Amino acid sequence: MRSPAQEALLRNRPLLRGRIALLGPASDHLLPELPGGGLVMSEHAGVCASLAAHSGWQVCFGYDDAALARGGFDSVVVFLPKARAELDMRLALARWLAAAGARLILVGEKKEGIAGAVKQLRAVVPQAAKADSARHCQVWCADNLQSLPEFSVSQWLNWSRIECSGVAVDVAGLPGIFSQGELDEGTRMLLESFDTWPPAAGQRVLDFACGAGVVGAWLQAWQRRQGLPVATVDGLDVQSQAVVCAGATYQQNDASGDILASDGLAGVDGVWPVIVSNPPFHTGVKTDTSMTEQFLRDAARHLPRAGELRLVANRFLPYESLMARCVGPVERLLEDRRFTVYRAFRR
Ligand SMILES: C[S@@+](CC[C@H](N)C(=O)[O-])C[C@H]1O[C@@H](n2cnc3c(N)ncnc32)[C@H](O)[C@@H]1O
Repeated sequence: MRSPAQEALLRNRPLLRGRIALLGPASDHLLPELPGGGLVMSEHAGVCASLAAHSGWQVCFGYDDAALARGGFDSVVVFLPKARAELDMRLALARWLAAAGARLILVGEKKEGIAGAVKQLRAVVPQAAKADSARHCQVWCADNLQSLPEFSVSQWLNWSRIECSGVAVDVAGLPGIFSQGELDEGTRMLLESFDTWPPAAGQRVLDFACGAGVVGAWLQAWQRRQGLPVATVDGLDVQSQAVVCAGATYQQNDASGDILASDGLAGVDGVWPVIVSNPPFHTGVKTDTSMTEQFLRDAARHLPRAGELRLVANRFLPYESLMARCVGPVERLLEDRRFTVYRAFRR
């Protein structure tokens, strides 16, 4: 199904001219309506996989895809991202992709904050004006864009130091990444659980939904400090910024492990003796447990017998019984008012 923002754009189809770039559509459902093709960028690995099924479109995964090139597009459509900071980066990419005199179109839902986003748009393209308001969305348009001479994800990368149980690591951040600049309280509890209940020494680990790579970098630094064999920790995340940040965090902290871009575990091969996660629970602003429930159903396939699954989650989220059903008997290792760390060994 097309999103309201996609519907609002289609109502304004005459605004699109020449070579088109779409930045951040929520799904591929728009593409059949735009048969001329063009370039389409998504920071979500699952959306990218569905976009790739449409011929005539150059699909780019995130802001550092090698196929992104300066100055080739006459109409650049920016779909409003969830994070405000990401909008600035997306607008910069749009201006860099734009040919001289190109048109920029910003479209987003009112409930996602399009009205507030217009300030950010006008800060970089003051000539932007509202073109339409429909389907609970607004469409903004600016002509005669000045092409931005440079765009590189590294310009947006920043660093922060986090510390837990006396072990510090430097963590890369990008607009839109989870818990930028600070250690999430759930993640902290997961790390603290390693300090008391270390995972089997030297075993390869998978950090599912790795974000900026905090868990893998910290676990290896902690094992090194304890004089334990250091595990390789592979990381997996659906978001391109996470893949970039986790790679940078690992490099900065001499951590080892592959970083995979994937929407869940479907389509991933491999068995890990230990799988750990601070999994996602949001789709936009709504709580959505479906991704993590799917992960719990898939995890057993990637664990050997007696392999460990360790998870931190908000206490109110209903994972314990599913984890018991899919993996094995569940222990609660740590708990406070907000979070619980669960552990199960595959039966
Ligand atoms: C709660 S954050 C945890 C990040 C990191 N592990 C930490 O503790 O800082 C959840 C992560 O799940 C990722 N994510 C969301 N949906 C996903 C999916 N379907 N497959 C893989 N990762 C996903 C998000 O991009 C986000 O980085």
